[in-house]
Amino acid sequence: MKKFNYLLALAGAIALPVCAQGNISAKQSEVMNKLLAVYAEKAKVEVKEEKGRGTASDKPFTAEEGRRFYLVRRTWQSGDFTCSGCHTEDPKKEGKHIKTKLPLKPLAPSANPERFIDANKVEANFPAHCMDLHERDCTAFEKGNLIAYLKSIK
Ligand code: HEC
Repeated sequence: MKKFNYLLALAGAIALPVCAQGNISAKQSEVMNKLLAVYAEKAKVEVKEEKGRGTASDKPFTAEEGRRFYLVRRTWQSGDFTCSGCHTEDPKKEGKHIKTKLPLKPLAPSANPERFIDANKVEANFPAHCMDLHERDCTAFEKGNLIAYLKSIK
């Protein structure tokens, strides 16, 4: 009996992480994978052309690098800004715009089925959010890492 309980616990421990991945829809995965592929191509061009300010690199995207960028704090216009300032440190939570105080729906696709279902919309919106913080659009490397980070959030 004891052995049976142990096996049940073991099965649960294996099944849980697998089930928890179900939160990101097939459509969201598809759009994010498409964006990752596009940014990987653009990143190569940016490295060659040494174009734009910010980090240009053709290294593979990682969630760790994306999280680091998401939490980077920048001071300008006598304010302290981070992506997490409006979107919160936990992208699964509802955020709040630091200026307008209006609520923002969670950024993580696992917590918000409306995110990343339209690649064009994401690409069109990105510059505004990057401008808010960095006074420039993010590089493809920065965007790719961010998507890898948001995609990794269960
Ligand atoms: C001054 C507040 C503010 C800051 C700082 C900010 N954002 Fe946003 N962000 C918004 C608002 C407002 C929206 C639009 C409302 C929404 O989609 O919830 C948004 C939406 C987004 C979206 C969703 C776009 C979509 O298509 O659904 C992404 C991705 C995003 N922000 C990324 C970032 C990143 C990355 C940073 C840091 C470089 C950042 N944001 C910094 C306010 C901010």
